[in-house]
Amino acid sequence: MENKEKAEKRAQELREEIRYHDHRYYVLDDPVISDHEYDMLVKELEKIEEEYPDLITPDSPTQRITAFEIDEFSTVEHMSKMLSLDNTYNHEELKDFDGRVRRGLGVDKVEYVVEPKIDGLGVALYYEDRVFVRGATRGDGERGEDITPNLKTIHSIPLRLNEDSVLDTVEVRGEVFMPRSEFDKMNEEREKEGKEPFANPRNAAAGTVRNKDPMIVAERPMDIFLYTLSYVEDEGFKTHWEALEELDKAGFKVNENTAKLNDIEEVIGYIDDWEDKKDELNYEIDGMVVKVNDLGYQDKLGATSKNPRWAIAYKYPAMRKTTRLNEIEIHVGRTGKLTPIAILEPVQLSGTTVSRASLHNEDEIERKDVREGDTVLVEKAGEIIPQVIKVIKEKRDGSQEKFDFPKACPVCGSDAKQIGGEVARRCINVRCPAQIKQRLELWGSRGAMDIEGMGPKLLDKLVEKGVVKSVADLYRLGKIQLTSVERMGDKSTRNLLKEIEESKDMGLDRVLYGLGIKYVGSHVAQVLTDNYDSIDEIMEAGQEELEGIDEIGPKIAESIVSFFEDEQNRKVVEDLRNSGVKMEVEREEVEQFLDGKKFVLTGSLENYTRDEAAAEIQRYGGRVTSAVSGATDYILVGGNPGSKLDKAKELGTTILDEDDFIKMIEERSLEG
Ligand code: IVH
Repeated sequence: MENKEKAEKRAQELREEIRYHDHRYYVLDDPVISDHEYDMLVKELEKIEEEYPDLITPDSPTQRITAFEIDEFSTVEHMSKMLSLDNTYNHEELKDFDGRVRRGLGVDKVEYVVEPKIDGLGVALYYEDRVFVRGATRGDGERGEDITPNLKTIHSIPLRLNEDSVLDTVEVRGEVFMPRSEFDKMNEEREKEGKEPFANPRNAAAGTVRNKDPMIVAERPMDIFLYTLSYVEDEGFKTHWEALEELDKAGFKVNENTAKLNDIEEVIGYIDDWEDKKDELNYEIDGMVVKVNDLGYQDKLGATSKNPRWAIAYKYPAMRKTTRLNEIEIHVGRTGKLTPIAILEPVQLSGTTVSRASLHNEDEIERKDVREGDTVLVEKAGEIIPQVIKVIKEKRDGSQEKFDFPKACPVCGSDAKQIGGEVARRCINVRCPAQIKQRLELWGSRGAMDIEGMGPKLLDKLVEKGVVKSVADLYRLGKIQLTSVERMGDKSTRNLLKEIEESKDMGLDRVLYGLGIKYVGSHVAQVLTDNYDSIDEIMEAGQEELEGIDEIGPKIAESIVSFFEDEQNRKVVEDLRNSGVKMEVEREEVEQFLDGKKFVLTGSLENYTRDEAAAEIQRYGGRVTSAVSGATDYILVGGNPGSKLDKAKELGTTILDEDDFIKMIEERSLEG
């Protein structure tokens, strides 16, 4: 007992200390200890909590990550309606706003607070006796979705409010966002893994906050700025500025570029100052928010059904500039698709130099009548790829000729045709060097065969000289051929050949991904290998059979079938096989006692993640589907199950709890 009391005291000390360092690191960006020292504190706390699990508190810094998936978000009611803001776009409209405010209050001058308008997602956080208990999205303004486990992963959200502050039971509101630097890093990773990159940080944050797996959320660093104290038990604040100061004191992250200003003229000056500076911030803002500082005044002004009358947003003009379009370049993709790209005289837009912009396709060029040598208006509106908005035709001097979209591939000269009603033209030559190069690049990439030392320069030469015409040719390369195309040292030649040799054993999922079948990224490749034992089985599977697999829809199925119908592609597979590339899955011989049985999972399991449980089921021949139906044999139920359990009860599906399931697996018996 005595030991436990000591442990409890120490745990409390550690939590306070860790909380302090979290605040220094994540909120103030000013750590005072090393990462190692910090890790030691966390480890010590984890050890105590492991020994005495009943000492774990919900506000313990060890409780940020929840290791189970959320079935369905429940909705929660906000303490008061979450309003949105009316927009203004110029100085005149700001002065009109100030006029309305002063008239409404019957005063000559009003003090304002101006804050950056963070381009993220509005959320409400609820604290009870200083402890973070719940957080929700804005939803329809009245009710939002409970996303507490996801919000807990954001380290700048305090799990417990600072004792120095008077705030204890409160609701606060703010904006969750993804820092630009984290966004760039994440997109790079996604592209490497063959996943679709997010269009902008806002979409990335929106997708992440509502992700049902808090473990995934925890891997995507998000941040938050708080800007409203929306509910407080004993009111004592006279101004918004005071409330922000108290939020800061309580440990919340409040935007440091917030200013208290004496009148609308000062507000306009401040907003103008930030128009250029905003691009240097590590987060995206799409404007500034102007708020009446006096809370008594705010009350008096009130709100319409949608917007407060005491606040307004000022939106900066979208980033557009004119520049000269020097040339239209045609890029040939891996599948032969011809994409026009505008090569621009470089311009500065939203803090980056823009020298290329997408022109999408032939129709788009025709519709906008884009010509080489034109002056064009370019926009970068949060998206990664800048767009050509329109041509400034008045700037033409008569030398610009109508653009003639090539009917032949600019790389190999073969016909480029529009097939099957598609807008895009495709080079019909599967031996086109541009296509070959990109197929090889994908094959050697990290998510595929991971062949290091096969850079773009070497590939260019190998393809140009005709030494390599398909991915299968890589396995016929010898030292002499390599050194004949590129001056390579002995050691790097040997290393590359070794890498190529080793890639033969990467496994079927990597091969499938590396072949570059449309819609087959690394995840779909994995799903296929979970369901088939060899590439031959996949090649023989028809559209219908493939569609029957969970997560494979008609589009993916069709793409797989048509890929393997192609004579050239079949030949590549044959050549790969002859070179010794492994295209079968080696599975341990296990008794398929769940053969054909269909499972549905719901709720959180203690001994498995969802993926692990699914893998166990598949290992013994069972299948996992997402919805309960008459065909479902078993429903595996964890803590906090969702509506699937009700459905299963209705249908009389056999219900297994985690212990039943473990027993079933251990005894290899359906009796459970
Ligand atoms: S105040 C009634 N302050 O912009 C007051 N909102 O278009 C409404 N936003 O829903 C919120 N930065 O999600 C406020 N500094 C800021 C903000 C901000 C971003 C978002 C918020 C709101 C939306 C309105």
